[in-house]
Order: sequence, then C-alpha cells, then structure tokens
Amino acid sequence: ALQANAASEMPPIPDISGDVVQADGDFKIKFSIGTTESGAQYRGLEYFEKIVEQRSDGHIQVELFPGAQLGDDLQAVSALQSGTLEMTAPSTSPLVSMFPKFALFDLPFLFPRPEVADEVLDGEIGQQMLEEASTNGLVAIGWAENGYRQLTNSQQAVSSPEDLAGLKIRTMQNPIHLDIWRTLGANPTPMSFAELFTALEQGVVDGQENPWITIQSSKFNEVQDYATESNHVYTPFITLVSERFWNRLPADYQQLLREAATQMGEYERHVSRAMNDQIKQELVDSGMQITELTPEQVKAFQEKVAPVYDNWRDQIGGELIDEVRAVS
Ligand code: PAF
Repeated sequence: ALQANAASEMPPIPDISGDVVQADGDFKIKFSIGTTESGAQYRGLEYFEKIVEQRSDGHIQVELFPGAQLGDDLQAVSALQSGTLEMTAPSTSPLVSMFPKFALFDLPFLFPRPEVADEVLDGEIGQQMLEEASTNGLVAIGWAENGYRQLTNSQQAVSSPEDLAGLKIRTMQNPIHLDIWRTLGANPTPMSFAELFTALEQGVVDGQENPWITIQSSKFNEVQDYATESNHVYTPFITLVSERFWNRLPADYQQLLREAATQMGEYERHVSRAMNDQIKQELVDSGMQITELTPEQVKAFQEKVAPVYDNWRDQIGGELIDEVRAVS
C-alpha cells in the first residue's frame, strides 16, 4: 500500500503582505470554478479573496462559486465575455479552440517535473500566453495548477497501452486529448465536466482522467475501481477576468488583482503538490486499486503516443515546443 506522507499536511494560508490600496468605489467579483470546495483550487481562491478584500480595504468583495454551479469552464468563460461574471480559472485545455497555442499544455509527457512547468509558466512563455489570452473580452492575469492528470476506469488495471483497447474514456472538450487517447488505442468521448460523474455512474463512459485531487474531491473513486498514475498531461489553470469588469477598475485595483493572482498561483501549487500523496493514500484506503508505472511502462506509453507531437507541431509552433523541451 502507498504510505501517507507526513509532510503532505495542508500548508497554512501564508501572511498577506502589502499596503492597503487607496482607490475609491465598490466592486463585486463573482469567481466561478469547475472544481469543488475540497480541492486545492478552492483553497487558492480563499487566499485570493482574503488578499483582495484586505488590501482593497473591503472595496472589492469576492464571492466564490465552486463546483461549476455557475456553469462549466467554457460557459464561465463566455459569461466573462458577456460581462455577467467577473472571474474564472479554467484548465487551459477547453480554451484551445480560442487560443490555438494553448495546445502546448496538452502535449503528452511534456513536463517531466512540476518545476519545469513552473519555469515555463512563470517565465517568458507563460507571460506570452497570458498576453495571447488577453483578447476577446478576457484579461488573463495568472497561472495556477490543475496538475498532472491520472487515468481512472471501472473495468481493469491499466499498465500498458494495450490495456486501453476499446476503453471508453471521457476527455475534456479538446482535440489534442482526443488524439492522445485515440493514438493510445482507447475510445475517447469529449464531455463537459458537469456531466461526468453521472456518465461514469451509468457506464456511459468507462473512465476519465484528472489530477488525484479532482478524482477525490469529485468522488470518482465511488464509481471507478482502478487508477493508473500515468502523469500523462500537466494541466495549468489560467486566471481570467472579464474585460468589461477590468475596464471599470482603477489602475491600482487592476494591479492588486494581478498581484493577488500571482500569490494565489504560488500558494495553490504548493497546496496541490502537498496534498497529492495523502490523497493517493486515501483513495487506496477507500478501495481504489492504484497502478504505479515503472519507467519502462511509462516509456511504452510515451513511444505509442509520440505521433501526437507531429500532428500538433504546426499549430503550436515547433520552436515553442523545442524551447519548453530545452527547459526540461
Ligand atoms: O476535467 C476537467 O474538465 C477539468 O480538469 C476540470 C476538473 C473542470 C478543471 O478545469
């Protein structure tokens, strides 16, 4: 059995530094996310709320809406564009149809370690991507992490691409993910996250893939007996603000939101990583069978899925892919 890691207890919310910002006026932010209240993302949002309310001296109020109650990732983004919602932080994957270069983050096994993802997101490439997404009624102000995605299913233990033959896997609404699972020999179906639990429960799909924390907080272990620690894709969360709302804010409040989003991103990644081992253990305790892959088994997945890089190289840009690989 996997060992619980004593170091994996929830990190406390750090002290909030910075002067109170002086701009006048009152603003309300409804902040919607797809993941539930028990996930790391929600902890990050609570921290964001604290920073923003404290440093604006209560002039900006933040209200949190977890669990896709105001709509899934794509619906929330469209509500930002029409100005009926102020903030959201989706995975980058459903946004590829709007921002084609985001396909970079969907390439399988691109980020071998979380530190590589940090270097890319917090560096020039991450900054360029935020600028690229600051269009079409959106302002992109920071990164956090959904994390490494792991496969779960209701049928059998999976330790090789051959085990995936014919398995019906729900993917995010993203063509690269569809390509990955088809190339690996599975039978993928794109579906909104809001429909996923019922689809798994009713056997419409056999499996899905998400980080450990989302698997647990969404209770997928109640309807999925098997998991594979595949780490096949690292998914970031991007923090987005409605441009209509943004343009109403004085410059110092805009700056405050940018700083708070950066602080939230650092904290949320820390929480997400610290919770992983403990969550895996809790999933095992709940009866889930987790397969950890050997380096040779990982290599078999990497080799089988390699054509996906060729299929998306033109859209993403070969140079960008090479730049990220150079960081690794
Ligand atoms: O699987 C998904 O759709 C995403 O990972 C989620 C959980 C909605 C977070 O953006």
